[in-house]
Amino acid sequence: MLIETERLLLRPFEEGDAEDVFEYLNEPPVNCFADMKLHSMEEAREEVLKRTVETEYYFAIVIKESGKVIGEIYAYPESADEHGADSGIDTFSPCWMLNKAYHRKGYAYEAAHAFFEYLFKDKGARRIYAYTEDNNKASQHLCEKLGMRQEGLFKEFISFVNNPDGTPRYENTYQYAILKKEWK
Ligand SMILES: CC(C)(COP(=O)(O)OP(=O)(O)OC[C@H]1O[C@@H](n2cnc3c(N)ncnc32)[C@H](O)[C@@H]1OP(=O)(O)O)[C@@H](O)C(=O)NCCC(=O)NCCS
Repeated sequence: MLIETERLLLRPFEEGDAEDVFEYLNEPPVNCFADMKLHSMEEAREEVLKRTVETEYYFAIVIKESGKVIGEIYAYPESADEHGADSGIDTFSPCWMLNKAYHRKGYAYEAAHAFFEYLFKDKGARRIYAYTEDNNKASQHLCEKLGMRQEGLFKEFISFVNNPDGTPRYENTYQYAILKKEWK
């Protein structure tokens, strides 16, 4: 699947993307992606190879003009009811990440808007929700710009990294969401 916007192409990962992916995953920019850290080009090549089979829900964000992979966006279908009642698989929680050299140029909004349109129109999404840490202003602004509502703040919700003394460092997490009927 290819998704095209004015400046970007969202496409499945290709083997040749390893160097660009290493550039932004060598130092994951936020704690929630800490376990995605790539330590070497060898690891980057292995990771990208695994991703090449993902063609529907996991996309490289590519600048059309240069062909450079500047980040990624992905979300998988989830059941709306985690207790197993008879509800549809119509809920998605996207993750987005850009190489920091390309922040604040509107690329994330351009990519996420096209990805939401794809999920709502082609993939049966009814509800899209996102978690973002309370200190992650960039991600919060992106959610708001996409028309997502802030639904709540979960205090000390999750831990991705430890404090210097080895105890878990818990993050305060905002939840944002938008329904298909709210999507313009
Ligand atoms: C979140 C992220 C993808 C945003 O990328 P971006 O390309 O800089 O975002 P855009 O340029 O499309 O900006 C979208 C909106 O957010 C605002 N914004 C972006 N970065 C911001 C920041 N650091 N502080 C405040 N607002 C910010 C922009 O100004 C814009 O709003 P506006 O048009 O009203 O001015 C990027 O910062 C990133 O990759 N961060 C690290 C990974 C991450 O945090 N992922 C989410 C985990 S929950």
